[in-house]
Amino acid sequence: MNFEDIPKMIRHLGRTLFGSAPIAPVTDLTGKTAIVTGTSPGSIGFETAKTLAAWGANVIITTRSNPDATVHALMSALALEGKVANIKGHTLDLTSAQSVNTFAEWFQENDEDRLHILINNAGIHLDLLSQWKEPTRTADGFEIHWRTNYLGSAMLTHLLLPQLKNAGKNNGDARVINVSSHLHNKGLNTELFAQQRPYNSWEAYGQSKLATVHHAFEIQRRLAQQFNVKGYVLHPGAIATNISGKGLEGTGLLQKLRNLFSPIEALILLSPVEGAQTQIYCATHPSIVGGVYYERCERGDVNPESNDTLVAERLWDETQTWIQSVSNSPTIETEETAIP
Ligand SMILES: NC(=O)c1ccc[n+]([C@@H]2O[C@H](COP(=O)([O-])OP(=O)(O)OC[C@H]3O[C@@H](n4cnc5c(N)ncnc54)[C@H](OP(=O)(O)O)[C@@H]3O)[C@@H](O)[C@H]2O)c1
Repeated sequence: MNFEDIPKMIRHLGRTLFGSAPIAPVTDLTGKTAIVTGTSPGSIGFETAKTLAAWGANVIITTRSNPDATVHALMSALALEGKVANIKGHTLDLTSAQSVNTFAEWFQENDEDRLHILINNAGIHLDLLSQWKEPTRTADGFEIHWRTNYLGSAMLTHLLLPQLKNAGKNNGDARVINVSSHLHNKGLNTELFAQQRPYNSWEAYGQSKLATVHHAFEIQRRLAQQFNVKGYVLHPGAIATNISGKGLEGTGLLQKLRNLFSPIEALILLSPVEGAQTQIYCATHPSIVGGVYYERCERGDVNPESNDTLVAERLWDETQTWIQSVSNSPTIETEETAIP
């Protein structure tokens, strides 16, 4: 055995254990507008935005700070491949209703009135060592995973419904893609409305991701037939991104060890390019069915809790009520609001 073969062997072991990801087939996205949230370099969102732009879409990316740097990084990466892209960036902090309002208003003022693809990709998984005994709360009082992974993305989606409906009406196809996780299986319907188990951040992450599944399915039920706005939800795989580093923040030695061994993590886990494939597939494949949970570019096993349509309906309605209370729009678009 040659010493230099070790990385290759570890990668092979990783692929054997976790399986390499299939690649989404190329689709012409010329004339389509797509928003991808959470696109920092090294993330799944970055690679998703890069591919959508390479395939011709007009792409809007969001980061919490310095979106211009990410736009520049994307444009440079695409230029190296000889591609000219149309990418714009804006800040977005999903935990701030003001930030979500500002982003939606900016999009509505600066872009055409159609949104064909919304990828709710931004997300967090903090406290990987389950050290929190109580939830960490956002400034407006919500558990932080719930607020970031579910509520913020749901608010963004609802504010952009007019543009999604317009794209659905004029092009026959608009899509909302919620990036969930296999860990949505840790979620329970009984805990969507009030915490009952002692706090555990992994379960809180699972609750937020179960809510994104209900949300995507409810979009499909409420908007697909009448408005051609379809809902998709997916697990991207176990991917080497920045998420685990952030999840170990504040753990001292362990975080240092993780940073030291992150090249090994990158060898074992799938790459961000591979991690982006299922959401790209959901966003672009011409004949893919909405209202389904995907994994590895095909139907995946979804938590049976997500079959409870009454729970999904209640979650939608309560979320809608909350969105109305924090939205700048006096009359927020609903599924019942017909387009002119
Ligand atoms: N990696 C995996 O193995 C895995 C597995 C299952 C599901 N997922 C899901 O995949 C999605 C992408 O994650 P990733 O692995 O690419 O993680 P990542 O590298 O940490 O990227 C997450 C992105 O979300 C942004 N973000 C975090 N908090 C935000 C907020 N409050 N408002 C707006 N944006 C925010 C981050 O911005 P900053 O850079 O400013 O923090 C970053 O751009 C997440 O929804 C995650 O739950 C990942």
